[in-house]
Amino acid sequence: MSHSKESDELIFFVNGKKIIERNADPEVNLLFYLRKNIRLTGTKYSCGGGDCGACTVMISRYDPISKKISHFSVAACLVPICSLYGAAVTTVEGIGSIKTRIHPVQERIAKSHGTQCGFCTPGMVMSIYTLLRNHPEPSTEQIMESLSGNLCRCTGYRPIVESVKSFSPSSSCCLMYGKEKCCLDEEKNEPEGKTSAFSKLYKKEEFQPLDVTQEFIFPPELKRMAEDPQNRTLTFHGERTTWIAPGTLTDLLELKMKYPGAPLVIGNTSLGIEMKFKEVSYPIIISPARILELFAVTNTKEGLILGAGLSLSQVKDILADVVSRLPKERTQMYCALLKHLRTLAGQQIRNMASLGGHIISRLPTSDLNPVLGVGKCILNVASTEGIQQIPLNDRFLAGLPDASLKPDQVLISVFMPLSRKGEFLSAFRQAPRQQNAFAVVNAGMRVVFKNNTSTIKDLSILYGGIGATVIGANKSCQQLIGRHWDEEMLKEACGMVLEEISLPASAPGGMVDYRRTLTTSFLYKFYLDVLKRLKMREPCGDCDISKNLCQDLEDFPLTMPHGVQSFKDVDSQQPLRDPVGRPIMHQSGIKHATGEAVFCDDMSPLAEELFLAVVTSTRPHARIISLDASEALASPGVFDVITAQDVPGDNGREEECLYAQDEVICVGQIICAVAADSYAHAKQASKKVQIVYEDLEPTIVTVQDALQHESFIGPEKKLEQGDVQLAFNCVDQILEGEVHFGGQEHFYMETQSVRVVPKGEDEQIDIYVSSQDAAFTQEMVARTLGMPKNRINCHVKRVGGAFGGKATKPGLLASVAAVAAQKTGCSIRFILERGDDMLITGGRHPLLGKYKIGFMNDGKIKAADIQFYINGGCTPDDSELVIEYALLKLENAYKIPNLCVRGRVCRTNLPSNTAFRGFGFPQGAFVTETWVSAVAAKCHLPPEKVRELNMYKDIDRTIHKQEFDPKNLIKCWEMCMENSSYYKRKKAVDEFNQQSFWKKRGLAIIPMKFSVGFPKTFYYQAAALVQIYTDGSVLVAHGGVELGQGINTKMIQVASRELEIPMSYIHLDEMNTMTVPNTIGTGGSTGADVNGKAVQNACQILMKRLEPIISQNPNGTWEEWVNEAFIQSISLSATGYFRGYRAGMDWEKGEGDIYPYFVFGAACSEVEIDCLTGAHKNIRTDIVMDGSFSINPAVDIGQIEGAFVQGVGLYTLEELKYSPEGVLYTRGPNQYKIPSVTDVPEEFHVSLLPPTPNPKAIYSSKGLGEAGMFLGSSVFFAIADAVAAARKERGLPPIWSMNSPATAEVIRMSCEDQFTNMVPKMDSKCSKPWSIPVA
Ligand SMILES: Cc1cc2nc3c(=O)[nH]c(=O)nc-3n(C[C@H](O)[C@H](O)[C@H](O)COP(=O)(O)OP(=O)(O)OC[C@H]3O[C@@H](n4cnc5c(N)ncnc54)[C@H](O)[C@@H]3O)c2cc1C
Ligand code: FES
Ligand code: FES
Repeated sequence: MSHSKESDELIFFVNGKKIIERNADPEVNLLFYLRKNIRLTGTKYSCGGGDCGACTVMISRYDPISKKISHFSVAACLVPICSLYGAAVTTVEGIGSIKTRIHPVQERIAKSHGTQCGFCTPGMVMSIYTLLRNHPEPSTEQIMESLSGNLCRCTGYRPIVESVKSFSPSSSCCLMYGKEKCCLDEEKNEPEGKTSAFSKLYKKEEFQPLDVTQEFIFPPELKRMAEDPQNRTLTFHGERTTWIAPGTLTDLLELKMKYPGAPLVIGNTSLGIEMKFKEVSYPIIISPARILELFAVTNTKEGLILGAGLSLSQVKDILADVVSRLPKERTQMYCALLKHLRTLAGQQIRNMASLGGHIISRLPTSDLNPVLGVGKCILNVASTEGIQQIPLNDRFLAGLPDASLKPDQVLISVFMPLSRKGEFLSAFRQAPRQQNAFAVVNAGMRVVFKNNTSTIKDLSILYGGIGATVIGANKSCQQLIGRHWDEEMLKEACGMVLEEISLPASAPGGMVDYRRTLTTSFLYKFYLDVLKRLKMREPCGDCDISKNLCQDLEDFPLTMPHGVQSFKDVDSQQPLRDPVGRPIMHQSGIKHATGEAVFCDDMSPLAEELFLAVVTSTRPHARIISLDASEALASPGVFDVITAQDVPGDNGREEECLYAQDEVICVGQIICAVAADSYAHAKQASKKVQIVYEDLEPTIVTVQDALQHESFIGPEKKLEQGDVQLAFNCVDQILEGEVHFGGQEHFYMETQSVRVVPKGEDEQIDIYVSSQDAAFTQEMVARTLGMPKNRINCHVKRVGGAFGGKATKPGLLASVAAVAAQKTGCSIRFILERGDDMLITGGRHPLLGKYKIGFMNDGKIKAADIQFYINGGCTPDDSELVIEYALLKLENAYKIPNLCVRGRVCRTNLPSNTAFRGFGFPQGAFVTETWVSAVAAKCHLPPEKVRELNMYKDIDRTIHKQEFDPKNLIKCWEMCMENSSYYKRKKAVDEFNQQSFWKKRGLAIIPMKFSVGFPKTFYYQAAALVQIYTDGSVLVAHGGVELGQGINTKMIQVASRELEIPMSYIHLDEMNTMTVPNTIGTGGSTGADVNGKAVQNACQILMKRLEPIISQNPNGTWEEWVNEAFIQSISLSATGYFRGYRAGMDWEKGEGDIYPYFVFGAACSEVEIDCLTGAHKNIRTDIVMDGSFSINPAVDIGQIEGAFVQGVGLYTLEELKYSPEGVLYTRGPNQYKIPSVTDVPEEFHVSLLPPTPNPKAIYSSKGLGEAGMFLGSSVFFAIADAVAAARKERGLPPIWSMNSPATAEVIRMSCEDQFTNMVPKMDSKCSKPWSIPVA
């Protein structure tokens, strides 16, 4: 980081150590600096945009005026290092370590089983740690606030929340939820009617207490620096940017006059995003963070004057304080702002973002500006010419030059008036997710009435999310002045607003009808809210309002999940030493929590290591006319540009090219790669590669396009039983329909990562890769380089989440990197940025399901004719297997005597879709549950009755003619019914729905038959290597990969039982292809089953060898026996092998014994929906799963909960958006919303069915990695039940098409009413929509 001009010294502390950076580059962020410059890799990169929390660290600052130290969490990826002058940074490494002492936060999150892959864990730890530094005994609200900016894709959050709750005496028990019993008090807390045994997943008694006196003290040197501020300007010169931080307001204003184009940066949450994602760079950046005037707070009689530099968290605290002191009618705007400040972004962003930055950014979906605007706030701005007041109104928000700041002006403070008599102000917002998501539409509304009347004197409405800026409905508001606040006024107001605030059919962001509906729905909410308050003011006045309309106006609260996990404890006779069946903590849990667990990109750089950035196609289908890399090659730091011409062996397998050659077949296909001395240089140069395309016809994006062009991958697959056509002739009713199912992004927290290290001898290379399938990666690299596999060693230490997305794709990416390594002769580090990862690697297959169902009037289904089409994308990948699975598993729990199902993979010009947890089952079984529900609606029967009626009851055969016993299916169903008190709650739901018009509740119970495994015998083989060293320590290696699912923990448990030694003797390092060759990818829920058998086999071989020695010296120790074996030249190393099950499918005959066993389950979910906005709240879920004899109930329950929450995302939240040309818009957590902590059902109970033998798997266990995913659909069907209640009340048809995911848009538009009907219907053929469904 050496630059020619002289910079000031940047002084800050990291974990108590002073840092003096003499070459601080303003473009370098704290995350990069920590990871690459000072090699603190505990803090993780996952999104780079402040949305995921993986990079959370704590910043502490001393305020010399209040003499207080403040601690706040931040997203290090958005903190420019230059902003750290005088700050103390604490990272996960700073609070505890295995080498010294672990912090109670680290201990509790690990021991509560709050880590799986562990990639989110350091960020979680730091959010919790910061919370406890500020509130050692946090309240529920504080806990939820602190976790609002942290995403976890594995655990389902419940155990993480529980670990934080353990610090809070008031919230550690569910008594706070108004229940009579405590959920943590085992045995007393059984959900009603529960009969099975209980045990704890961890022992709270073992937790160390939190001792705040043990924490780092704030560095005295920084305190002194703050108390004696040198007001001189600090300057830091970087490669492209200079950072200037003045010490006084005068200097600031002069600088702004000198550099009017230079942005002021405070939180950097707007500017930083622009610089990173739009690749904008500024020669000068001015930091006003040291200007005290920007942080002043003044209370006046008329209102508050808040400094523009205050963070949104500080603003929130100040407003909350004022609200608590003043009458409610005076603080209406403050209350409205507070409402939004609870859900705006995550805690880290609220801690960083400033009020001034927020206002000046004028984001079109700003949550605060519409409220500040209708609240008539005033901006106090200054320049060298003096001070000026600018009204914060629609003209300012529209960016009109005469209503905005001049380039040399600085926003100093904001005046926020108190509300006056007769004034009512409210705020509304609806986002794709309850918190940490930009609003789809938001609004601020304010009305003032003439003295003691309901006659409108003044009205203002501002909407966000409708246009390119926040916009006002001024004309409508003007026309409504003088009108009475009544229904007639409302009706006309809605019409006027719809006319004034229009949105073209092709508007960016899409959801046009929904957004327009929200404008009037919010207006209606405001109308009711004001009416209610007028009524309170004047109970006998002339406003009328019915009670059940008003009571459900409130937004859903942010709730904290809690629940019971029940399982059968081990037999009391089992030796204490034997860990099998016990809830053992994840082997790497503590290391995850301390940041010491090493992931691929955490590995130290090697000398002359190069970084790779790829250039991807911007066209869906085109010929490459030319590629000009000359400008890129001349860029700073660039070593080489790698193209298809450089591939020495095969350029990919089947039709999947590594580097596109001549033609591109999707947007996002890799064309070439730039190797440079830093990622920043590689990325900058990659933008300079010039590619000329010639578009080719056709461009196939959707399933419909593929059908039209007969574009398929592989032949049609078909399964049939009975005589479907004949059966249709004998049924009472026939129902036909179709349902669309959207795809899903894996969103593993660790993006695809690979390092290729040439060893310099015999052409050997080491590949360190985050992959589920090391052997496949090895094979692809070998083919690409034209080398034998024995020269290539693939190492996988651990994977930061995979879910199927790291099965095939890492092979491709490793091969791309290997070509670069071979060409340049250097090590290559290739870590995909989140946006590239989402663009390039594909996800779950979107599906179109068509059905024709024949059934009797009693709900008995006699015949079903089903057709599936999945969008496979541009290459085969695993698509043919996925469609096979969808067919084989579609029947779910139901015996349909006459069933025909056909499936096709559509070849389109989208990135190739791939494996994803559940592999076709979540799609296929969803279609089945859709038509089962439709049959129930047609027969006017409760859905659970139709489900029961059609469920398998006795030993029978599946559609692929495999025999199975559904006993445990029935048991799960019955136990779930009982645990959830289904009928009692159904009655309560009905009662609620009768009382409430705009909020409805829904309840659904869904059964599950999940077949575990693969349809080919060779998939079931596994190998292991167990080595005993002469000191008695044992090293285990096996063919499975640790993805977070706890396979290594289970393997240690197996080895411990088999060798009869404590787990502490056993170590498990990495998986690599030299130790265990020819492995099968880890997936399909079989990893622990088959590798466990291989480990068991190896251990048994060793024990057999030791047997004579042990029997000769039965009282000897393990160490003595091992030593004796060595003396007797007995080998202490053994390879274990498991040959696997016989499995095969004959598609000609439509039969096959494919699956070794089935996992059964059932889930009951209850939700509440807001019919006016489409929001929903997950109230409660009860899951019963047939886990047999769980090897590790903590790991298995973790898998069930995590998969369920991922399923909740799939069926209700996660929406991939594509342009009509096949460009993926949703390329980060900013646009693509996975569940966050508030999406977990408030009550979340999981029970394992009392165990029954499963002779097919080790120790009679079952693989539970995938099954829970489908149970997330119970939330979808509960939503559908609630929507059905609303539709019934509004007299709408009981059968309608509700596609997955049931997003807020889908829910709102399914609850048709006067507001949806008011929106003028647009002819969709007349204009091109912004996005289209691809299935
Ligand atoms: C992950 C994430 C989630 C978010 N979620 C939401 C959300 O849900 N709802 C929502 O409303 N917003 C959301 N935001 C936006 C966020 O509120 C804004 O980015 C933030 O308020 C901007 O403040 P800042 O201090 O970071 O601005 P900066 O990025 O530092 O500056 C932004 C702009 O303001 C100018 N500026 C700053 N201060 C002054 C001043 N005193 N005088 C003149 N010009 C000034 C700068 O020149 C710059 O152009 C989110 C942002 C992120 C990153
Ligand atoms: S990496 Fe910083 S918030 Fe995601
Ligand atoms: S454990 Fe949270 S993302 Fe994996």
